[in-house]
Amino acid sequence: MKVSVFNGSPRRNGNTSELTSCLRAELSSRGHTTEEYMLEGIDFCGCQNCGLCQKGPLSYCALEDGMTPLYDAFVDADLIVIASPIYMWGITGPTKAFMDRLHALNRACDPSFNKIRGKKIAFVTTMGDEEMVAASASNAIQFFCEYFGAVYKGTFAVPFATKEGVHSDLNMVRLNAFVDRLEE
Ligand SMILES: Cc1cc2nc3c(=O)[nH]c(=O)nc-3n(C[C@H](O)[C@H](O)[C@H](O)COP(=O)(O)O)c2cc1C
Repeated sequence: MKVSVFNGSPRRNGNTSELTSCLRAELSSRGHTTEEYMLEGIDFCGCQNCGLCQKGPLSYCALEDGMTPLYDAFVDADLIVIASPIYMWGITGPTKAFMDRLHALNRACDPSFNKIRGKKIAFVTTMGDEEMVAASASNAIQFFCEYFGAVYKGTFAVPFATKEGVHSDLNMVRLNAFVDRLEE
């Protein structure tokens, strides 16, 4: 599989990046190709609700910014992993802006134009507190998949996260089982 990981943590060497590295290492060891995009370093803004993407014939979005190549990275992938720490019981600002902009991949005026339909999408997340705080974020990803016809492949959460804790034996066993599910 071709896997695109979109990481919305502001910290390049933080807990979420530690988790995406472990995930990518496991996927690579099983023969999959992975690419990771750190959203924080990319110059793009949130959806402006101009409505042009819904009318066509743009390729995707009317805004020409750092999101433009991310559309291709999304569309070219078989599996999309959205990674974000939990901020205030939700995903981070860049992750939200990224997801809002994905609206342009589904065109209201043309039901046959839906570049999200059929994509496998998973959510991986870290948090300072217990796993329950990720419920809203995980739900939002599931609703996103249901609405756009993507295949929700599950959420992998690391509660009480530290960089070392991400590597715990228990988490590695859980992560391997999660990758089994991603491959199904
Ligand atoms: C602004 C902010 C808001 C946060 N909100 C929550 C929260 O609602 N629940 C929680 O469990 N942890 C919260 N945290 C902790 C982070 O989710 C946690 O430390 C995470 O592992 C950080 O990931 P990172 O190293 O990739 O940045 C918050 C951290 C910050 C900076």
